[in-house]
Amino acid sequence: MKRVLVTGGLGFIGSHTSVELLARGYHCTAADNLANTRKEVLDGITAIAGKKPDWVHVDLADPTACRAFLAQQPKFDGIIHFAAHKAVGESVQKPLEYYRNNLGSLLNLLDYVKANPACAFIFSSSCTVYGQADQLPIREEAEIKPAESPYGNTKQIGEEILRDGAKAHGFRAIALRYFNPIGAHPSAKIGELPLGVPQNLVPFITQSALGLRGALKVFGRDYPTRDGTCIRDYIHVVDLSQAHIAAMERLMQGKSQEPLEVFNLGTGTGSTVLEVIHAFERATGTKLAYEFAPRRPGDVIAAYADTEKAATMLGWKATRTLDQCMQDAWRWQQSLPTTP
Ligand code: UD1
Repeated sequence: MKRVLVTGGLGFIGSHTSVELLARGYHCTAADNLANTRKEVLDGITAIAGKKPDWVHVDLADPTACRAFLAQQPKFDGIIHFAAHKAVGESVQKPLEYYRNNLGSLLNLLDYVKANPACAFIFSSSCTVYGQADQLPIREEAEIKPAESPYGNTKQIGEEILRDGAKAHGFRAIALRYFNPIGAHPSAKIGELPLGVPQNLVPFITQSALGLRGALKVFGRDYPTRDGTCIRDYIHVVDLSQAHIAAMERLMQGKSQEPLEVFNLGTGTGSTVLEVIHAFERATGTKLAYEFAPRRPGDVIAAYADTEKAATMLGWKATRTLDQCMQDAWRWQQSLPTTP
C-alpha cells in the first residue's frame, strides 16, 4: 500500500483529496496545524471514506517539528502539499508571516524529498501567477506577471524553489495552478470553513442566502465582459482533488518529462459573477439579494484555463457543472451550525 502525506489534510481541498486517496486504497496521513480548520473534519473524511486517515497535529513551517515528524514516519511515496495561508488581503497586512509560513513549510518538506528523491511531490499553486493574462483561455506557457500580493508571490516563488530544487537534487514535482475552487463534497460531510466574513464569492453567496450576511456586493459592473462583471473559471473541489491523484500517479509511474511540470486545473469555461448568482438561484431555488459595488482592487477582468495539457498529459478533465457546484456548496452551508 503506497503511503501519501497530505499537508493541510483537514483543509478545504486537502480533506477532499484525503477522501479520494483513501477511496483508491492509498494509506493517507493527514497533517494539519488547525490554523484555519477544525479537527472534526477528520470525522467527515472518515464517514465518507469508510476508513480513517492517520492524523498528525504538526506545524510544518517549524523546521524542528517538521523534521521530528518526518523522522518518526515510515517513508512516504508521495507528498501532496496544501498547507499554506491563502487570504490575499491578509497577506498584504502580514507579508512576513505569509513568506515564513508558506515558503518555510515548502523548504522543510523539500529537505525530506531531497533525501528521498523517489517521493512524488505535488504543490498547490494558483492561476494568480498569470495576473491578467494577455490571451484567453490561459495556457501554461503564458507569461508569469508580477504578483499582486505577498500570497501570490509565495506561489510564484514556491514554483521557482521547486524548479531549481528538482533540477539540482534529482526529485520530481508537479505544481498545480488552480483556478477558482468551489463546491463541497455531495455528502455535505466536508466543505469549506471560511473564518469570519468570507472574502470569496461562493461562500459569501451561500452565507448571504441563509441570512447570515447582508446582500452580496458585486464588485464592478463596468468590466469589458459580456455583462460587465468579472469572469472566472469555477471548478468543483472534487474534480480538483481527483486531479491531484492523477498528477501524483504520473510522477509515481515515472511519466513526467521535466523535473517540475505545471498544469492548469480549471474547467475551461469562464462564468461572470452574475452568471454564478443565476446558477445559484437556479440550482437551489433560492433568491439571492445583491447590489453593485465599486471594483475590488487587484481583481483581474477575466481568467479561465486552457485545459488541454491536463487532459492529454494527466488524462484528467473536470466533469462537474457550475449548477452541481452550487447545489453542493448550498447543501454544505445548510448542514453547518448557523452561527457565522
Ligand atoms: C481569490 C484570490 C486568488 C486566490 C483565490 C483562492 C483575490 C484578488 N484573488 O481569487 O488569489 O487564489 O481567491 O480561492 O483575492 N466577488 C464579488 N463579491 C464578493 C466576492 C467576490 O463580486 O463578495 C467577485 C470578485 O470580484 C471576482 C469573483 O467574484 O470577480 C471571484 O472572487 P473570489 O471568489 O474572491 O476569487 P478570486 O478573486 O478570483
